[in-house]
Amino acid sequence: MAESALLRVRHLNTAFTLPDKRTARALEDVSFDVYPGQTIGLVGESGCGKTTTLMSILRLLPSNASISGQALFKDVDLLAIDEKQMRSYRWRELAIVFQGAMNALNPVMRVDQQIREAILLHHLMPQDQADLRVGELLELVGIARERGRQYPFQYSGGMRQRAMIAMALACSPSILFADEPTTALDVMVQAQVLELLKDIQQRMGLAIVLVTHDLGVVAEMCDSVVVMYGGKMAEYGSVDEIFNNPQHPYTQKLLESFPDLNHPTDTLASIPGTPPRLTELPAGCRFEPRCHLRIERCKTDSPPLLELGDAHYAACHLRQGKPAHF
Ligand SMILES: Nc1ncnc2c1ncn2[C@@H]1O[C@H](COP(=O)(O)OP(=O)(O)O)[C@@H](O)[C@H]1O
Ligand SMILES: [Mg+2]
Repeated sequence: MAESALLRVRHLNTAFTLPDKRTARALEDVSFDVYPGQTIGLVGESGCGKTTTLMSILRLLPSNASISGQALFKDVDLLAIDEKQMRSYRWRELAIVFQGAMNALNPVMRVDQQIREAILLHHLMPQDQADLRVGELLELVGIARERGRQYPFQYSGGMRQRAMIAMALACSPSILFADEPTTALDVMVQAQVLELLKDIQQRMGLAIVLVTHDLGVVAEMCDSVVVMYGGKMAEYGSVDEIFNNPQHPYTQKLLESFPDLNHPTDTLASIPGTPPRLTELPAGCRFEPRCHLRIERCKTDSPPLLELGDAHYAACHLRQGKPAHF
């Protein structure tokens, strides 16, 4: 890729200390690049570490989390700066639409006022500018300014999600992290919200890190994809490679169980078995118990991430390549 990456995530490890003192290793050695104006998808079953990846990068995890590795935003390591510096990056450069965000609006406050409050609370701009900005933002996400005066209950789910996206875009960030932004919406509205994100991306040159368990959304939106399994990267590559030349058995199973992109079902559950417990991780490959192609080695050796070809990586003993260098 010619243009240089805006964000380089390197060897991200996140662990949670549980109340019983056991350690849940939620992320291990996660590395990927986010390019300006592009969308990267993080995909995998529930519990595989997608949300933890976003929250680690933005440093929004609770105090029982410990994080190591790097998240280099324009060469500044977000994981090494102090909290005050970090605050100057959130919203202004790195914005997030949280999982389930559209249900987090305050029911007894007008939508335009909520957006305005968020802007003022975070000292993003002075009051008179904030008022103007609220109108602009509502229009940007396709909500008429007058409707800003309504309350969340007068909005459909799609409109509430648009309002949350508007709030995230208040300061024209360079990266938008969107965690399952369309999961709670019906298929038609889902498509409209995705169209909106694409449209805004083009107009603002925004980079998007999109978390989803839905391969249809990935196909529709993404330039590149990280397939995660049990807190590790199973495969990473361009959307073309992932869909047309998948190399990890997990990716292959995901695609097989997703026959028709136009009629999504709850497909990820259709791979028999469940992901590993993060407190009792196996010595070998985390996918081994569910893998249709497993060999002896998979039980004992954890497969390293291999570079298979041009910017295509997979962690599987059946594949040949040189160790990935991130
Ligand atoms: N605050 C926390 N304390 C302990 N474990 C957590 C915490 N947050 C997440 N986890 C664990 O980390 C794992 C990954 O969770 P998550 O990142 O939310 O997955 P996903 O978004 O892919 O569904 C899960 O097993 C979850 O239970
Ligand atoms: Mg999640």
